Amino acid sequence: MIKRDRWPSKTLFIFAAVGSAVGLGNVWRFPYLVGKYGGGAFLFPYLIALFFVGFPLLILEFSLGQKMQKGAVGSMRKIDRRLSGIGLGSVLSSFGVAAYYAVIMAWCLLYIFYSLDLQWGSDTKDFFFNHVLNVSESASTIEGFSTPVVFMLLISWIMVYFCIWKGVNSVSSVIQVTMPLPIILLSILLVRTLFLPGAADGIAFFLTPDFQALLDVEVWMAAVTQIFFTLSLGFGVMITYASYQEKDNDIVLSALITSLADIGIALMAGFVVFTTLGYMSQESGVSIKELAASGPALAFVVFPKALSLIPGAVLLSIIFFITLVTLAIDSLFSLTEAVAALFEDHFPRASKKMIVFFICLAGFLSSLVFTSTAGIYYLDIADHFITHYGLVLMGLLQAICVGWVYGAENMRSYINRVSHFRIGRNWNLLIKYVIPLCLITFLGQTFVKNISETYGGYPSWSVMAFGWGLVALLLVICVSYSYFQSRSKPNEQV
Ligand code: PHE
Repeated sequence: MIKRDRWPSKTLFIFAAVGSAVGLGNVWRFPYLVGKYGGGAFLFPYLIALFFVGFPLLILEFSLGQKMQKGAVGSMRKIDRRLSGIGLGSVLSSFGVAAYYAVIMAWCLLYIFYSLDLQWGSDTKDFFFNHVLNVSESASTIEGFSTPVVFMLLISWIMVYFCIWKGVNSVSSVIQVTMPLPIILLSILLVRTLFLPGAADGIAFFLTPDFQALLDVEVWMAAVTQIFFTLSLGFGVMITYASYQEKDNDIVLSALITSLADIGIALMAGFVVFTTLGYMSQESGVSIKELAASGPALAFVVFPKALSLIPGAVLLSIIFFITLVTLAIDSLFSLTEAVAALFEDHFPRASKKMIVFFICLAGFLSSLVFTSTAGIYYLDIADHFITHYGLVLMGLLQAICVGWVYGAENMRSYINRVSHFRIGRNWNLLIKYVIPLCLITFLGQTFVKNISETYGGYPSWSVMAFGWGLVALLLVICVSYSYFQSRSKPNEQV
């Protein structure tokens, strides 16, 4: 029997889990969702989703990996062979997200260099879309690729390779830098932006709740998917990381620290972004709401412009984009590691370096489509469909399998045996009833919405290919995999 990799210490496991959770989701995705859904309106559903869905599911994923000592596929397989497809679904979603996540990291790397002389000038929108991305008119026309982005993409995947090529050992060395560094940098930015004129207006926009928005199901769905994304849930990543722990590690404490660190940094990033937008609004006369509503381009269009208005712009911009890169890298390699664990569990004798090499190569090739001149449209579609269907669906199925097949009480008693803080029977209720019912309702609503109108107003072929097509492919692969696994010879028992 080949010995499983182990984290050198419990602290490094927490570092790795926090490193995975805290990423572009906190500094890029969270602020633009806050902007899109009208400021403080988003914060309340976000916190509720964290408390009632995110935290219980994080405990579930940690306990699953730690108890079964396998990655996502192997863990589900140990519960029942017919469930292996669910694990595979998580791993494939990981791969899909890694493909576009790497492209965003490539943009961040490029922007570090552009920061040196604030190359974006005064028209940051034109710079980002026409100069960096070279974007085409519509999703239907691809007129080549953006060379600088492809180059940085290659660098990103090479970096990922060297972060995980020696498994837990190389990951452990890297995260000692990439986990704390962005937090320090973000704190520097926060101290600077808090004292800008207009900062208070930005904070008011960020924190004032709008109770009317709570009636909108879309806001709730966005909050739930953001929680999945930001806590790395439904990807198999947390299951994989926990599987490198000894079986008696404290699960509740690890989940608590990871969730608190994640939300703390999202809030911190929110303060940095909205104080800066408050300042910019005062300087430019454009309302904060309008500035914040620029969607995924917020970090690359509005923010560089805002930064360049502040004295010390070059340094602040460099710090901001290095923060983004160091945040992104440990999330990206955790996604890749989840995929690698699948192959390691299947082929325990294969060389880790080889496995990682081929995954990074496949990752690079798959990312290329998002560097094309229509790439940003496909990125938006893929992000919407993978996060709304892939992750939420996998989270739902995980909850049902552990809750009903393995037994919530069974898992809870294991969790309580190893944890200092004990969880009550309410956890069983959440896992068995509340979370599945909420997720089914949300999925149903989103499904109806997405079939009654084409997502984002994109050409329908592109939504078919990068949205429904990906989801359908995911389902077909998972169901067939479960079918073939159920016919293979029995695996070891739990
Ligand atoms: N949690 C990361 C973020 O917030 C993204 C991520 C998702 C990383 C899934 C790993 C796995 O950016």
